[in-house]
Amino acid sequence: TKNSIIVGIETSCDETAVAIVKNGTEIVSNVISSQIESHKRFGGVVPEIASRHHVEQMTVVLEEAFEEAALSWEAIDAIAVTEGPGLVGALLVGVNSAKALAFAKQKPLVGVHHIAGHIYANRLEKEFEFPLLALIVSGGHTELVLMKGHGEYELIGETRDDAAGEAYDKVARMLKLPYPGGPQIDRLAAEGEENINFPRAWLDEGSYDFSFSGLKSSVINTIHNAQQRGEERKAADIAASFQASVIDVLTTKTVNAAKEHEVKQVIVAGGVAANKGLRNALEAEFAELSIPLLIPPLKLCTDNAAMIAAAGTIAYEQGRRSGLDLNASSSLLL
Ligand code: KG4
Ligand code: ZN
Repeated sequence: TKNSIIVGIETSCDETAVAIVKNGTEIVSNVISSQIESHKRFGGVVPEIASRHHVEQMTVVLEEAFEEAALSWEAIDAIAVTEGPGLVGALLVGVNSAKALAFAKQKPLVGVHHIAGHIYANRLEKEFEFPLLALIVSGGHTELVLMKGHGEYELIGETRDDAAGEAYDKVARMLKLPYPGGPQIDRLAAEGEENINFPRAWLDEGSYDFSFSGLKSSVINTIHNAQQRGEERKAADIAASFQASVIDVLTTKTVNAAKEHEVKQVIVAGGVAANKGLRNALEAEFAELSIPLLIPPLKLCTDNAAMIAAAGTIAYEQGRRSGLDLNASSSLLL
């Protein structure tokens, strides 16, 4: 099972993606069709529109991935597909496509957890060393995962309410910035001053859980109060102060967990890993601790199928198989 060539399929949210990965480490092709433009005017992802786009794009993206790879199905060892979590209607398009292909081409099928994919995006850049700590921050997730070996995921902290990216998107909407809001706030924050002291949710002593709903409410109140008093609150200052609170909590908890578990590597994954402020803060902290920090390049931070193929490779090599009764699960556990 060495040097296996795996097809990855990802449709959990608003990207239709197919990729081919060799040995779990080498991208042969990586095709992504984004629907962001179709969702922009609604200020967020509309599930029905997402599903319809996936149906329309799947065969196009699949063919492109094989064309780019200049490979035929004979070279393929297995098909890996995101089975959850995500939008169930969107996931079903990927899962059903993968099942149809597995049946038609007589290839093994492996269901992959979306977060395992985000983690394994990093292995396309650098080999893992265990124990490792992964911080997953995206539109749907804020999690700290400890790994003591390949395919072993131990959830040590998670958000109790909003995900970090969700908080970014909601604050951006309040500031009347277009969707997705994360990159907009990130850009605006660089122009502002951290002159508003927004709350930091540390939660119980020693907890690695997160909470962003209090911060979000505090930002709403600040904006409303300023409007009522007719004060000018610079959007850039709100963005900078909000971002400072998010980064402070994410960085502090990640550093504490890395120290407690004496990890050899720290990985950051998910769309919010693209955040410049977060990258800078984590780079500074882990440089000081001499713990190697991996953050994938932008294209691998956000949803893609190469990461699903990479995580699927490990599952495949460990002998995990899914049947043709594989189902999509919107709330699949890691
Ligand atoms: O991983 P991803 O592409 O999709 C999910 O699985 O959720 O992450 C998308 C999220 C969105 O909430 C988006 O606003 C956020 O990542 N994001 C950012 C930045 N770029 C994307 N958040 C903060 N700063 C950024 N530069
Ligand atoms: Zn994601």
